[in-house]
Amino acid sequence: MSKVTHFDHPMIQHKLSIMRDENTGSKDFRELASEIAMLMAYEVTRNMPVEEVDIKTPITTRKFKMLAGKKTAIVPILRAGLGMVDGMLKIIPAAKVGHIGMYRNEETLQPVEYFCKLPQDIGEREVIVTDPMLATGGSAIDAINALKKRGANSIRMMCIVAAPEGIKALQEKHPDVDIFVAAIDDELNDKGYIVPGLGDAGDRLFGTK
Ligand code: PRP
Ligand code: URA
Repeated sequence: MSKVTHFDHPMIQHKLSIMRDENTGSKDFRELASEIAMLMAYEVTRNMPVEEVDIKTPITTRKFKMLAGKKTAIVPILRAGLGMVDGMLKIIPAAKVGHIGMYRNEETLQPVEYFCKLPQDIGEREVIVTDPMLATGGSAIDAINALKKRGANSIRMMCIVAAPEGIKALQEKHPDVDIFVAAIDDELNDKGYIVPGLGDAGDRLFGTK
């Protein structure tokens, strides 16, 4: 079974509470999503392997630690996952960015894939999928199916708010994918929205309805 890491950090919780406030406008909402992603990236990358390399300082040469092994790909689920990319790139500037377009059919709540463009060497990269909302889990499950079909084999899922139902569904379908989340809310309502949640993340990020 995959691991769920819940970020109970005061800075993240404070920023998330402002995002939840219905009076927070798109500009602040975008900045906060990016800041939370940056803070989470620090922990999501914690177990990345390092190796000792020779570095010549102005004084002498010594071995120091640098990242080793697989390179990273960040894959936002469009649209809302885009709101986490800038923050992630602040911590992992050399990462490549793929994109998967998914929208939920608002009646069936089933995700529909409409776009997929990934780095060619996706199978050789640590993949971090970003989406602020994990509700039924359908979009994340299908995005990860699409990634695996194209060769990705080491995937982490990073979201800001998750419903217990979404976590359970994702763990059942992809037990190899660890999940990183800033908040686990109460439940889904009958329209598939997370309660208390923050509303429609894509609309709030981009000012649409
Ligand atoms: C939202 C959100 C997730 C999905 C979560 O996207 O960003 O991708 O819903 O719901 P699920 O877990 O039940 O699949 P939406 O379909 O609204 O598209 P958008 O990002 O373009 O707004
Ligand atoms: N997608 C969102 O943007 N918000 C929710 O609460 C559920 C799905």
